Amino acid sequence: MAVLVTGGTGYIGSHTVVELLNNNYDVVIVDNYVNSKPEVLNRIFKITGKKPRFYEVDCTDYAKLKKVFQKEKITDIIHFAGLKSVAESVAKPQLYIDNNIGSSKVLLRLMDEFNVTNIVFSSSATVYGVPDHVPLKESDKIGGCTNPYGQTKLDIEYLLKDYAKEHKEANIAILRYFNPIGAHESGLIGEDPNGIPNNLMPYITQVAVGKRPHLNVYGDDYKTVDGTGVRDYIHVVDLAHGHLCALKKLEEKPGLVIYNLGTGKGTSVLELVHAFEKANNMKLPYVICPRRPGDVDENYAEVSKAYKEMGFKTKLNIEDACRDSWRWQSKNPNGYDK
Ligand code: NAD
Ligand code: UFG
Repeated sequence: MAVLVTGGTGYIGSHTVVELLNNNYDVVIVDNYVNSKPEVLNRIFKITGKKPRFYEVDCTDYAKLKKVFQKEKITDIIHFAGLKSVAESVAKPQLYIDNNIGSSKVLLRLMDEFNVTNIVFSSSATVYGVPDHVPLKESDKIGGCTNPYGQTKLDIEYLLKDYAKEHKEANIAILRYFNPIGAHESGLIGEDPNGIPNNLMPYITQVAVGKRPHLNVYGDDYKTVDGTGVRDYIHVVDLAHGHLCALKKLEEKPGLVIYNLGTGKGTSVLELVHAFEKANNMKLPYVICPRRPGDVDENYAEVSKAYKEMGFKTKLNIEDACRDSWRWQSKNPNGYDK
């Protein structure tokens, strides 16, 4: 009776594993460390006092992953494993297709062979493409993805929908995440990007820790409250909790369900900068730069479906996330590399 967590040593995966262990789930992690470090497992143990079973396996490798299914009694899967850099996916689209779609196909094949019925999948708000309105509802149109990474998420959603049609016993939760930020309040686990961060919060914390001279704010002429881009930033611990709500929902045997995981509230780049300054009592240097290609004005979630159908509600706010992101970065200036 174990939950298989693919990509469980990554940013969202590690926080979800902590929530699962704290709620007495039996957890098996598979990860190939393409974007994570073995040290994460020690940190998970420090927080929870528990050691999940771990297999260093590439999820695109059918034969190796099959051995895990043979050894473990897997009842549920949370599928985080995937590459997620928008810029890298533009440079190497085939890598993203092979890794993200490839690993999902292998998992579905093994679910079928081993009669595993329940899976939660990490999708993204990116499947909504360029939104023509906000907040975004699960029933809104999807497609028109602006990069190969987003296209893989959309393609996997379709794979899952086809699988559900053929497998009436399958229960599938597609979770569309908005913008995860923050870290566990212990400061022991958090986001550890390789190289120059693409995303806003890790860039902010690297400026705060003195690794980068200033934040580049990409555009101040968007149609938003202060001209800077607006996103729905959700604390990663709330997001992790959303996966436990989804596992519970799947116990009701609902077939395929889709939920946005966000806060329902938009925050601009400058609002986030000022919240970070206030929460951590510091000044953050920034420079207004030209727009980043592909960025949209506003993107935030309609969250009532996740609340009504699986009781999911965020508990933490932007200030909590700013405080926790900074605690993680200041305690670990080089991430998991000491
Ligand atoms: P992450 O890179 O920190 O975690 C992904 C984990 O998967 C890493 O530990 C990596 O080593 C592992 N992995 C990748 N390919 C693998 C493979 N073939 N076999 C085994 N392990 C593999 O990313 P994250 O932010 O934790 O994201 C988790 C999931 O959520 C991803 O699928 C991502 O696309 C999705 N998502 C993330 C965001 C975000 O902003 N962070 C937003 C929407 C969706
Ligand atoms: N931004 C800056 N400076 C930076 C980084 C970002 O001003 O150094 C701005 C962006 O222009 C945007 C906002 O901060 O307005 C958020 O940018 P992020 O890169 O943090 O997040 P995005 O919303 O662009 O992208 C995220 C995920 C993608 C996913 C997308 C849509 O990182 O994987 O949401 O769901 F595709």
